[in-house]
Amino acid sequence: MSPKYKRILLKLSGESLMGTQSYGIDTERLNQYAAEVKTAIEAGVQVAIVIGGGNIYRGLDGQDNGIDRVQGDYMGMLATVINGMALQSVMERHGLKTRLMSAVEMKEICEPYIRRRAVRHLEKGRIVIFAAGTGNPYFTTDTAATLRAVEIEADVILKGTRVDGVYTADPETDKSATRYETISFDEVYRNGLKVMDMTAFTLCQENNLPIIVFDMNKPGNLMRILEGERIGTLVEN
Ligand code: GTP
Repeated sequence: MSPKYKRILLKLSGESLMGTQSYGIDTERLNQYAAEVKTAIEAGVQVAIVIGGGNIYRGLDGQDNGIDRVQGDYMGMLATVINGMALQSVMERHGLKTRLMSAVEMKEICEPYIRRRAVRHLEKGRIVIFAAGTGNPYFTTDTAATLRAVEIEADVILKGTRVDGVYTADPETDKSATRYETISFDEVYRNGLKVMDMTAFTLCQENNLPIIVFDMNKPGNLMRILEGERIGTLVEN
C-alpha cells in the first residue's frame, strides 16, 4: 500500500485523553493512539502531532474564577507539555521513536522548537510531538496545529475529535443533521459551521492545507484515511 499522504499533522484533543475519566490522562486511550500511529509509521508515513491540554486546564475557563486570560493561556500551554510527555512515554513503550519539542523553552524536559530540526526528525522516521501550542497567549492548539502543519509542509491536517466529521447542524442536539463527506472552506464559512477557530481555519485556507475531521477514538480510522478511504469530512479549497 502506498499511503495517500506522506507527511501528516495529527491534532489530538486534550479532552479525548481523559477517556472515560472526568479529569487527567487515561493511559488506555494513549495506548490506543500509540498503536494507531504505529501502523502509520510502519506504512512509511511521517507523523507530527499537536496535542491539546483541555483535560488538565483550559485557559478560557479560568477567566470566570479570577485567573487572568494570559496567565490561563500559559497554564494551558503547560498542560499540553504534560500531555506531550505522557504521549511520548507511551509511544516509546510501543517501540516508536519520538521527539518532543516545545514552543516555550524548557530544555531540561524537551527540545526547543526549531523548524528545520523538526523536519529532520520526521525525515528520520521519528514522531515529532509539538507542545506548548504556539508559545503565545490568545492562540488555540488548533492554530498551533495549523501553523506547524504549514511550517513543516504537511500534506494534510487530521483533526481527531469525538464526532466523526462536520455536520449540517450539531448532531448531538439535531437528529436530522447529516455529515458532509467533503466541503469547501468557503462553504464552511458561509454556513457558519464550526471546524476550527477562525485563526486556524483561515491559515489552512490561505495555505491550501486540507483538513480531515474524523473520529480518532474509533480504532483503525487513522489507517483507513491513509489508505485513501473517505472517513470523516474533508475540508479543502
Ligand atoms: P540527530 O542528531 O539528527 O539524529 O537527532 P537527535 O535528536 O538524536 O540528536 P541529539 O543528539 O540532539 O538528541 C539526542 C537526545 O537528546 C534526543 O532524545 C533529544 O530529544 C534529546 N535532546 C536534544 N536536545 C534537547 C534539549 O534541548 N532538551 C532536552 N531535554 N532534550 C534534548
